[in-house]
Amino acid sequence: MEVVVKETAEQMSRLAAEMIADVVRNKPRCVLGLATGSTPEGTYEELIRMHKEDGLDFSQVVTFNLDEYVGLPGNHDQSYRYFMNDRLFDHVNIRPENTHVPDGMADDIPAHCREYEEMIDQAGGIDLQLLGIGGNGHIAFNEPGSSLASRTRPKTLDEKTRQDNSRFFQSMDEVPKYAITMGIGTIIEAERIILLAYKESKARAVSCCVEGPVTAMCPSSALQLHPAVTVITDKAAAGKLKGDYPDEPRRLILGR
Ligand code: PGA
Repeated sequence: MEVVVKETAEQMSRLAAEMIADVVRNKPRCVLGLATGSTPEGTYEELIRMHKEDGLDFSQVVTFNLDEYVGLPGNHDQSYRYFMNDRLFDHVNIRPENTHVPDGMADDIPAHCREYEEMIDQAGGIDLQLLGIGGNGHIAFNEPGSSLASRTRPKTLDEKTRQDNSRFFQSMDEVPKYAITMGIGTIIEAERIILLAYKESKARAVSCCVEGPVTAMCPSSALQLHPAVTVITDKAAAGKLKGDYPDEPRRLILGR
C-alpha cells in the first residue's frame, strides 16, 4: 500500500486528479469507479478544469459509482446520481449512457445489484477506483462488520453514517436508512485504487485502514490485500499514522 501525505486537501485533490487524468489519457476507453461525498469534490473540480483548459477527453470513458441511497430518485438533490451529474458529468464530455450509478428506486433491488455487477464485468472491470473513507473506516457503504468478500447489495446504514450525512437533509428522519453499495469484494477487484482522506476527523479511520490489522470491523483495511492502492491524505488526516510517508507517489499510475 502506497501512502502519500500532502500538506493540504487542495494538493491531495490535485494529485488524485492527475493520476485519474493519466489513466484517461493512456486508455481513453477506461472504466473509472467513482465516489460521492465531500472528499472527491476537489478532485472533480480539477478534472473539470483539465477538461476545459487542457482538453482532457472523457468521450469514451465509462464510469460506475460505488453507491446510492435506496428510495431517492436520481433527480432528488441528495441522491448520488444528482451529485455526480452536478459535480462532474454535466461539466465534461462524458456520454450520459456511459455513466452508471446504482438505481435506488429499482423495483427488485437484489436483481438490480446482480445486474450492476454484470455491467461492470461486461465493461471489462474497473481500471481505477476512487474512494473516500468514512469516520468509522467504511468504504462506499460497507459499514464495519461487512464481509470482506461482499458484493454489490442493499445495506442498512450505521447510525454514525446517518448522523454524518444528516447535515445534507432537513431532519434525521429524512436521512435514508438503506443504500445499495458495491461490496468490498467488488471494490478490490479494481485494477488500481486511490483512497482519499482529509481532515482530522478521518485520522483514526486512516490509521486503521493503513496500519491496523485487516478486519471487517475496519472495512477499508481490506485494501491492504490489494497490490496497487495509493492512499492520499492531507497532514490532518495523517495525524495518527505512525509510519513516515512521502509527499509524492513513487510510481506513476498508467492505464492498462
Ligand atoms: P465524506 O464521506 O467524503 O463526505 O467525508 C466519505 C465516506 O463516508 O465514505
